[in-house]
Formats: sequence, C-alpha cells, structure tokens
Amino acid sequence: MNTNRLSETLTAALNEQMTKEAHASQIYLSYGAWADSQGFGGIANFLFRHANEERNHMMKILEYILKRGGKVNVTAIPAPPANPVNVQKCFEKVFQHEVDNTTAIYKVVKMSLVQEDWATWNFMQWFVKEQTEEETLALDLLDKIKIAGGEKADSNSIYSLDRDLKSTPDDATLAQDATTENP
Ligand code: FEO
Repeated sequence: MNTNRLSETLTAALNEQMTKEAHASQIYLSYGAWADSQGFGGIANFLFRHANEERNHMMKILEYILKRGGKVNVTAIPAPPANPVNVQKCFEKVFQHEVDNTTAIYKVVKMSLVQEDWATWNFMQWFVKEQTEEETLALDLLDKIKIAGGEKADSNSIYSLDRDLKSTPDDATLAQDATTENP
C-alpha cells in the first residue's frame, strides 16, 4: 500500500525548498557575523533573529514532507555569498535573497496547483504570506538606510539605525491588514 501522498516531483521540489530555507538561514548568520564585526550589534541581532526564522521555515517543510508520507532528503547547504561591503549593500542583498526565495516558493505553489495537490497548495500559502512580510521588512530596512543617507550615511545616522534595529519587530505589517484607523 502506498502511503506517500506526495508526487515524486513535489517531493523533490519541497526538499529543494527545504534546503533553500537552510541556505537563507546561513546567509543571515554570515551577514549577522559580518555586521557584528563592523560594530553594528543591533543589525547583527536583527539578522541573527532572522537566521532562526529561516531555520524554522526549513523545519516546517521537513515536518510537512514527513507528515505526508514523503521522504526527506537532507543535503549539504551551499556556502553563503561574500560579505556585503556596507550596510546599504547588506540590506540590498537581503532584499534580493528574499525576492529569489519568493520566486522559488511560487514555483512550488504552481506545481501543486498543476498537480491538484490541494494539501500542498494550502500548506504553501503560509509561505506566500511569509514572503510578502519578509520582502516588506527588507524594503522597510532599505527605506531606513536611505533616510539615514544611503551609502553616504554618517556614523551618527548608522548608530541610530543600529540601535533601532535591535528592537525592530520581526514581522512587517501587510497591506491587507491595514484599516483607515490603523493604516
Ligand atoms: Fe524563509 Fe526569508 O524565506
């Protein structure tokens, strides 16, 4: 009796996405270590917290594959890319990584739609929402650094930004949650 509720191609795609989330976690870890070495403890704290979030995303997918009777394939994680050269480049890279991850998530969503695997489609909607939040968060960071002066930001502005990021919430408010009272 076949108890595997996932197709071969969706199992492979989910396993691949699981590794991508682990890779994202490594990227945030390495950028966090870079930020700390530059003296930006607040930015480092923010990035380290996010590394944990990505690790949780990885675990969510791993659990899902198991729960659907599929086979989990834990592989090597690619090394993170080179360190950013400044804070603005760091946030630009973070934004680009999130956009790339969204593209990868959409591919799994599309595959589940084509295969009429509604359980996987439903499961993946959580990630669609999460990616919207993460892109918004990364865009907010880019806005903040722009206000601080971008690549020409002086040390006082970076100092304030660094201090603020230490306590910045991990989730962004989504457009669909806005009301006239609370835009
Ligand atoms: Fe789990 Fe930022 O993607």
